Amino acid sequence: MNEAKRLYEGKAKIIYQAEEPDRVYMSFKDEATAFDGKKRGLIAGKGFFNAQISAALFQYLEGQGIPTHYLGRADERTLIVRRLAMLPVEVVVRNLAAGSISRRLGLEEGRPLHPPVLEFYYKSDALGDPLINEYHIRALELATPAQVAEMAALAERVNAALSPHLRERGLILVDFKLEFGLAEGRMVLGDEISPDTCRLWDASTQQPLDKDRFRRDLGEVEEAYAEVWRRVTGGESQWSGGPQSA
Ligand code: TMP
Ligand code: ASP
Repeated sequence: MNEAKRLYEGKAKIIYQAEEPDRVYMSFKDEATAFDGKKRGLIAGKGFFNAQISAALFQYLEGQGIPTHYLGRADERTLIVRRLAMLPVEVVVRNLAAGSISRRLGLEEGRPLHPPVLEFYYKSDALGDPLINEYHIRALELATPAQVAEMAALAERVNAALSPHLRERGLILVDFKLEFGLAEGRMVLGDEISPDTCRLWDASTQQPLDKDRFRRDLGEVEEAYAEVWRRVTGGESQWSGGPQSA
């Protein structure tokens, strides 16, 4: 994974071209940002934890018949994934009110949402990922109506599969964000599923075990990522520790 093969660097991950043209490496960083990059920090071990948590959840979803980009692990913080043509849309599913929906609609955090609320955001750093609907997606030609319907159906299936899976591990799936892309015309779940992109509350204490600990300065940030990793993976693989070398 040398510099020449680096395709893209985002706030939390670096994408490298693999030897095979239809594969890329997705390497997870310890750097953390929030509020459109205005808050920055380092969460020791986050790259490792998010890579391992994402791998375990993608494998689980594949077993449930949901197509994901996951192919395997290259090293402890790097996944091998299918190269996708990403759609510039973020799909958020909310089971309980928290974060931006609580602010926008004046809902108490933790209030159940029946049915779960599905939202679309336009993936644009320059605009701060604004909330959009299916009409915006169509008018801006971000995706076709059929693709929107497919993303929504897959997001609901991910929620139906992940909510009980995580609940069995003592975690309440409050909300999460998914990104999709196309491989040979087929809709595939991409990006990551981790405490950076999900709200996960401890089922017994209702305390957040996710990036809200960083966003809201709640302390014990690394401990929360490690705890989710232990519960989701069984904690079988070793973290070598120390700052990342990537
Ligand atoms: P929100 O309440 O801030 O809109 O976040 C909803 C969910 O989406 C939450 O689980 C965190 C996740 N999320 C991301 O993955 N990336 C983002 O940039 C934002 C704002 C939220
Ligand atoms: N990671 C995003 C940012 O840097 C938002 C977030 O997760 O809060 O803005």
